[in-house]
Amino acid sequence: MPLLKIKSKIKLKPEKMYNHFSTIASKYQSVRTLDIKPILHIKEKLAQKEKIKMADVGCGDGRYSLELLKSFDDSFYINCVDYNKNMLETLESNFRERNIANFCVLQSDANSLPLHNNSMDCIVTFNAVHHFDITKFLSESLRSLKKNGSLFIYTRLRSQNNRSVWGKYFPLFTDMENRLYELNELESHIKDAGMKINFNRVFEYSRVSSLDRLVQQAENKHYSTFALYEKELFLKSLEIFKQNIKNNFKDLNQVNWFDENILLEIRK
Ligand SMILES: C[S@@+](CC[C@H](N)C(=O)[O-])C[C@H]1O[C@@H](n2cnc3c(N)ncnc32)[C@H](O)[C@@H]1O
Repeated sequence: MPLLKIKSKIKLKPEKMYNHFSTIASKYQSVRTLDIKPILHIKEKLAQKEKIKMADVGCGDGRYSLELLKSFDDSFYINCVDYNKNMLETLESNFRERNIANFCVLQSDANSLPLHNNSMDCIVTFNAVHHFDITKFLSESLRSLKKNGSLFIYTRLRSQNNRSVWGKYFPLFTDMENRLYELNELESHIKDAGMKINFNRVFEYSRVSSLDRLVQQAENKHYSTFALYEKELFLKSLEIFKQNIKNNFKDLNQVNWFDENILLEIRK
């Protein structure tokens, strides 16, 4: 494993990646797993602050923004920033249905944030930083944060991705996914931006799923990594993935592995 090969470093045209997010927007919540632990940590870290103004950058359909809204009182306000129109429309209709008022949606690139200088107590980004121009995003966060503000980045590192069920059993997954960072790379970008890491924490999650559910997630391209495969290569890889899972797990309703992610708190 893997039996398949790719010819060169994979990079999807920006508009194709945008289209991927447009297509997946309405079903995003149903194919992704939500992690509550980073939310609890962020809540704890912000416990001393009142009337928090936050921005969730690369917010997608808002599943993490919603958890943050549930974690704070009505004085909390969140700017939900994403470049994808469909994602923001899904978020907005969901929040309006829930009668949530203390939010706004801002369609914008993370590389040029539509936020005033020194205006945010906190900026968060979940599972999205590898899609941004990190130098520009950090510089924009630095500009937008208040003096004692914090930027929280929740992501999976390249090595963590490699150890996931997809990294281990889905052909070429780790070759395709060349956008993720290692911790030392993030540290270096953060240092270059003139910011510092105040805290970092690795989270490990014990996951159990069925092969059917995993196949459904991959077919729906729940990780944008799958959008990087040509159609035929994806179908061949999926078949090998199924076989790999059958070879490694007795009960196909109890496929188990560990997911890992990291949360960084970055200060000015
Ligand atoms: C993997 S999704 C994560 C969504 C959400 N944070 C979550 O975890 O559910 C990445 C999101 O980043 C957005 N995105 C990608 N590149 C972006 C950019 N340059 N500027 C703003 N948003 C971007 C996509 O539209 C998508 O909604």
